Formats: sequence, C-alpha cells, structure tokens
Amino acid sequence: MQDVAASTIHLADYTVPGWLVDGVHLTVRLAPHATRVLSRIAFRPNPDSPPVPFTLHGEDLRLIHAAIDGQPVTPVVTPTGLTCDTPRSAFVWEAEVEIAPAANTALEGLYMSNGIYCTQCEAEGFRKITYYPDRPDVMAVFTVRIEGDTPVLLSNGDPVAQGPGWAEWHDPWPKPAYLFALVAGDLVAHSDSFTTLDGRCVALNLWVRAADLDKCEFGMGALKRAMAWDERVYGLAYDLSVFNIVAVDDFNMGAMENKGLNIFNASAVLASPETSTDADFRRIEAIIAHEYFHNWTGNRITCRDWFQLCLKEGLTVFRDQQFTGDLHGHAVKRIEDALVMRNRQFQEDAGPLAHPVRPDRFVEINNFYTVTVYEKGAELVGMLKRLVGDDGWRAGMDLYVARHDGHAATIEDWLAAFQDATGRDLTQFMRWYEQAGTPRLTVTDDYADGIYRLHIAQTTRATPDQPDKPPLHIPVAIGLLDDTGAEVVPTTLLEVTEAQQTFTFDGLSARPVPSILRDFSAPVIVNRTVDAAERAFLLAHDTDPFNRWDAGRNLARDMALRLIRTGGGAPDPGYLAGLRATLTDDTLDPAFRALVLTLPADNDLTIALALDGTVPDPDLIHRVREDIRGAIACDLTDILPDLYAAQQVTAPYAPDASQAGRRRLGNAVLMLLSLTDDGAAAQAQFDAATNMTQSLAALGALLSVGRGAAAAQAFHDRWQHDRLVMNKWLAIQIAMAPPEQAVAITDALTRHPAFDWGNPNRFRSVLGTLAAHPAGFHRADGSGYALLADWLIRLDPVNPQTTARMVSAFDGLGRFDAGRQVAMRTALARIRQAPALSRDTTEMVNRLLR
Ligand code: ARG
Ligand code: ZN
Repeated sequence: MQDVAASTIHLADYTVPGWLVDGVHLTVRLAPHATRVLSRIAFRPNPDSPPVPFTLHGEDLRLIHAAIDGQPVTPVVTPTGLTCDTPRSAFVWEAEVEIAPAANTALEGLYMSNGIYCTQCEAEGFRKITYYPDRPDVMAVFTVRIEGDTPVLLSNGDPVAQGPGWAEWHDPWPKPAYLFALVAGDLVAHSDSFTTLDGRCVALNLWVRAADLDKCEFGMGALKRAMAWDERVYGLAYDLSVFNIVAVDDFNMGAMENKGLNIFNASAVLASPETSTDADFRRIEAIIAHEYFHNWTGNRITCRDWFQLCLKEGLTVFRDQQFTGDLHGHAVKRIEDALVMRNRQFQEDAGPLAHPVRPDRFVEINNFYTVTVYEKGAELVGMLKRLVGDDGWRAGMDLYVARHDGHAATIEDWLAAFQDATGRDLTQFMRWYEQAGTPRLTVTDDYADGIYRLHIAQTTRATPDQPDKPPLHIPVAIGLLDDTGAEVVPTTLLEVTEAQQTFTFDGLSARPVPSILRDFSAPVIVNRTVDAAERAFLLAHDTDPFNRWDAGRNLARDMALRLIRTGGGAPDPGYLAGLRATLTDDTLDPAFRALVLTLPADNDLTIALALDGTVPDPDLIHRVREDIRGAIACDLTDILPDLYAAQQVTAPYAPDASQAGRRRLGNAVLMLLSLTDDGAAAQAQFDAATNMTQSLAALGALLSVGRGAAAAQAFHDRWQHDRLVMNKWLAIQIAMAPPEQAVAITDALTRHPAFDWGNPNRFRSVLGTLAAHPAGFHRADGSGYALLADWLIRLDPVNPQTTARMVSAFDGLGRFDAGRQVAMRTALARIRQAPALSRDTTEMVNRLLR
C-alpha cells in the first residue's frame, strides 16, 4: 500500500509555475510498441516566481536523449519526472522518448483502441507522452508533426501540411497540455460545415470506422445546433477552421474536449433509431454540446489548477442543461436534473466520499470527476444565475470571458466577475464551493390576521473533515396559492442567509398553500410536514411544473416511507386518485406524466431513511416499491390499456421531444401492464418494434416479470455484431433481475463471450449495472460485494481509473446494518490488500474505510 498521506496535494500549497512555455514542437513517430516522441520546447523563467529548479513531469517514458540549446544533457530521472541543471534564462529543451501505446490498457496518455491511436490527457495524461510541466496553468502554442502509416492523422488546431505518411497541425490558441490530442487510424469522415457569426467557414468532421458511417448524422446535427446556440445565447463563436470529433471504442469517460479535436466514447456519439434509445439520442446531443461548449468554458478560459475543476465542469454542465431545456422543454429537463441530484449526488454528499464542489485536497485528481463536481457544480451556477437575475448573469458572463480569455482562472475569479458586474456581495455564496453536504431546510408556517409567515431553518450535517457548517446563501423560490389554485403570490425568490429566518407576506384574505423550492431553486432537502391532501392539491394545481411533479413524488415518497416503517400495507387511496387524475389529463405532456408515474428510487428512499436515523433495509425497500407498483397496476387496470394505446406513434421514428415523450409514457405504462397480463403486451411490442426505444423497453418489461428468456435470446442473435447494443443487452438482464438472482446473472454474464472486460463500457454494463441495482448489490449474504471486489481486483492493474470510479459503489458503508457493513469492509479490505494496488484505487478505498 502506498503512503497516501505523504502524496496528498493541497489547494493551500498552490504556487505559480517556475517556468513558462513559449512554444511546443512535437514530432510523433507512431509504432504500436515503440512510438518515438520528439519534443522541442521553448522555456523561460516565470517572472512571477522565485527561482526554482527545472523539473518536468513524466511517467512510463523511456528517455532516449535530452538536450538544452542543442547541447546534450543528462537529467536526473525519477518515476514521476526529471530535473536538470539549466541556464537561469530562456532556453530550448529537446527530448526524445519512447512509449508503447499498444501496451497502454489504462487508456490515459497515448493508447490504441481497436487499431486506432488516440489520446486522453485530462487530467494528467500528457506526462505519459513526453516530459512536460503538465499543469493547466502552463499554456502554450503547439505545433505537431505526426508520422505513421495510417490514412488519417489528426491533432489539435488547423491542418498545416500533409504528405504520404505524415501530417502537420498548428494550434494558434495557447492551451494547457491536458487539451493536447492526437488520433491516427483507418477512419472515415461524415463531413459538413458551419459558418460562424463572424463569417468563418468551419469544416466539421465526425471520424468513425467505416462500418459506423450510418450512425453519424444525428451527432453532426447536434454539433451544429450547439454551435448556433452558443452564438445566439452567449455570443460565443468557434475559433478554428476545422472541428473534428472522433469516436473510439475504449474510453474511460463519456468524451473529451481537446481543442479542435474532441474524442468521444463511441457510445456518446454514434446514434441510429434501430440501435439507440430516445434517452441515448438526448444524452448524445447533450454530450456533444457539452464538449463543444468547453471550447470557451474550459479551453479559452481554463483552470488554474485541478482543484478548480468545477470552474469548467459545473459551468459547462449548466450550459448543456440550458441548451437541452431550450431545445426540448425546461420542465422535464429540470425534473431529470433534480433526479440526478437526489438519486446520486445527495447520496455522495451523505456518505464517506462527500467532498466540496471545489475540493481542497486530493491524492489522484481522476477520483474527483464526480457528480458533486459536475452536477452540484452546475447547481451552484444555476443558483448564482437566480441570485443575480438574467441581466446580471449575462453581464457577469461577459465580464468573466473578457477578463480571463486566454488565461487559467479560479473560482475566486469567477465570482469576482459576477460581483463586479452586478454589485452583489457573493462572499457568503462562496461557501457553497467549499462546504460539502446537502443542506436541509426545515420549513414551518403560520397565518393570522391576513399575515402569512414562513419560517426557514437551515442545517447541514458534518461531512469528512468538515465538522462545522456555517449557514449558506440559499435562493428559495416560492409561490403562494389560494384554495382554487390561483396564485396569490407569484414566484418570488427568498434569500435565506441565516440559520433561521422568517419571511412575511401580508394582505392575504385567507391562509395560502405554499409551493416551496420552485424549479428546484437550490440543491437542498426540504423538510416540512405536509398532509396528503395538501400534496394532492399541489399535484393537481401547482403552476410551477417542477413542484407539481414534486408534489406527486412527495406523496409517493411519504407513502413508501410509511410502508417501509410499518413493514408493508396498502397504498394510499389519495395517491392512487392523484395518479389517475394526472395520467388521464391529456393537457399534460406525456413525458411529464411518465415522470409522475416513476416511483422514488431506492437510493432516494435509502437516504431519506438514513437521514431520519432508520437503518435502511434494501430488501424491504425493494419489496415495498414492488408492492406499490403492483397496487398501481391493479388500481389503474381500467385505464392502462387505453393510455398505452394512446401513446403509440404512427409517424416515422424521430427522436424529438414529442414522440419521445409518448414512447416514454407508453413504456412506463407497459411495465405496469406486464404485471397484470403476463407480458402479453410487452411481447407484442417486442415483436413489432422497429426502434431500439420500444424494443429495449419491451425486453425490460418481459424480463421484469420473468418472461424474457426468449426475447433476450432473439435480441442477442439479432445484435451480437453490434458492440453498443450488446452493452444494453448485458445491462438490462442485470438491471431487471430479481434481487435474489442479480448476482448469479451478473456472474454468468461475466463468462459470456461478449464480456470483453478490458473495455470500460463492457465492464460498466455488467459490474456497473450490478452496483446500481440496490437490492441486488446489497445482498445480505455479501455476495454482491464479493463479486464486485473480485472484478475490481482483477481490473485495477489493467485500468486503475475505471476501477477507482466503481469502488464508489461501496459508499453505502456506514448506512446499512451491521452485517452488511462487515461484508462491505471485508470486500474493501480484500481490495486494499491486492498487490501493487493503484494510487487511484488506494485513495478511494482509504476514503471509504477511514
Ligand atoms: N473533461 C471531460 C468532460 O467533462 C472529462 C474527461 C475526464 N477524464 C478523466 N480521465 N478524468 O467532458
Ligand atoms: Zn466537461
């Protein structure tokens, strides 16, 4: 085990770079096992730094030779870099190193995926390509020459020249090394073009293997929509003559925003109606937009250091959420984003892995590409926008871009731009970036003599390393309704800044019904005792779509929690009546109705129980959810067939919001119908389906009632040649498995010939799906933990990043009963003892076990 304390990096220890780079010339001579990288780098001392020795990062490099100003030198080489005596003034460094991309299974640095050379340098992968000051505050202009015998040779920026077996690229925009990229392979392009608002004609290419050329059109359209949106909404235009996107099969994350050369996990860009679901189309469009938006929020303005990761990620997620909302509707998008917060981020924030949106220490930065940094980071941006208003938001963004374009910035810089542009004091707001944990608002109210008062108290529980939580600046949007559902006070932003505060509304003729935290205006938990009648009233009448949905969710949640506490029983008639009224209200968007029909996730209920001091029992939670589903299917049996029929689309498939919403509701109803018709409707849909959305949902419904064997076989036989569809085939069998079979099914699938476990998508489809199946993973006998641990021990030496990410499945530690805790600790201890465990995984296991 490594000495982690010794290698912890602290935000407080930041110092400016000792040496700056004026220009980088790379020559890369590709060969699978012996690629040579020649670098020529112009360094000069940083005038803002005291003199420091010359050091460069470097890992897994074989140094062939090095020279300074043309004179050979002999640096002192260590496993993490080198140091060398240098002049105290500017000089040119030259080095030649050898690397083996074909042996690089960690998928960081230069590696090979299915015969294609590609790179992943964020966060610290460039140091596996050559010796360099691999930190984001060192920005430089790169010129790259690639030599190789593949037809396509790509790097960042604009193409300069090319000939048989070589190509040269020049990127005029100074950038940190993490944005460097290189791709070489037998690829073909789906091409198009876009003319920017300043008249620049940009060549757009989506590079894929020839067999995937028919899955590019949607991604290309999404890219053009993103380019136009960023111009229209923020006045931000693209800045090179070419924008390249490449799809690769082996990738640790979704995609990467390398300047002018985005590299994508194939699953995040390739789309066709036959092979992709409506949800895939939406996700692909959002990721393409996200990476494109990084060109400004990330690339032109980058991060000073990796603690500032949320500066680019929170902001860029916020921008992609806005984009999706603008294109397809804000109400549904807001609900979906809130679900990610409640089902995933609140869990992270309530467990041993809780960390601030801007962490202040890390061992391995790759362990902090989390739902907290990304999604909670986006929520902080959204709160800031609410606090400064739309005009203040645009003024602040403009000032931020004007001030920091071409530089590496911090969260302090970010907030200063808004403070200076709007005059608002954001000192207290800054705490959101530094303080982990989900605040809970306890809300009570009273009414007398025409005066209504809302009392709001805020508390945040202690999180690792943060026992005390001073109050946050929380924007709470509220509205007040009268007993007909009319608004007596329209949406109003309350600013909660103290531990306890009272807000007064006078001149009311009767006691109003409050609608609190409209549009999910802050990532907090609202604690307020509300009876079922008031919730049902809001489900029927709230004018805020988010809170209307939330009223239904709260009804379901209160009921589920009651049934869990009492060990079972009958669902609430009020809930069933509200559901019936909502589902049959054809004025409501079908996607919205599908969301109302979705019961609170196991995770959501688990956190609610844990926060109230009840030890959650995953089996009981699962059983109660199933009982409620059964009761809904029974109670609504008279309306479900018609509701299902009414959602069927006869027009040719299009992945638009209107069709997708109907399929979503239709498929949600199909799950319920299957409980009462033995899967007959699902089998019919499966047999007739001509798109993946309906085919996969039908397969899922059949599997969920134990009638899926034949359909699963047919699906396999039809799609076994398609690796992306096979990921779905693997995952759905586990996701839909009854809890007592999930581990055995997972284990069996790990022996299936399709399970190529070195591929991250495959590994996630199988082991990741088990980890996300609460009652299946948390088997009381510990078999889920043991199976995952076995596989993580196997994967760690091959791919530490993907291993470490999945170790977070154990973050229920401390939440469940003693037996499960012992079993989790045993599994984690076994991982910790694995020989030569990676730094990535070591840090995660230590954080979990501390
Ligand atoms: N910046 C990328 C994105 O959010 C994520 C890449 C992170 N990769 C990693 N290995 N940590 O789009
Ligand atoms: Zn990003």
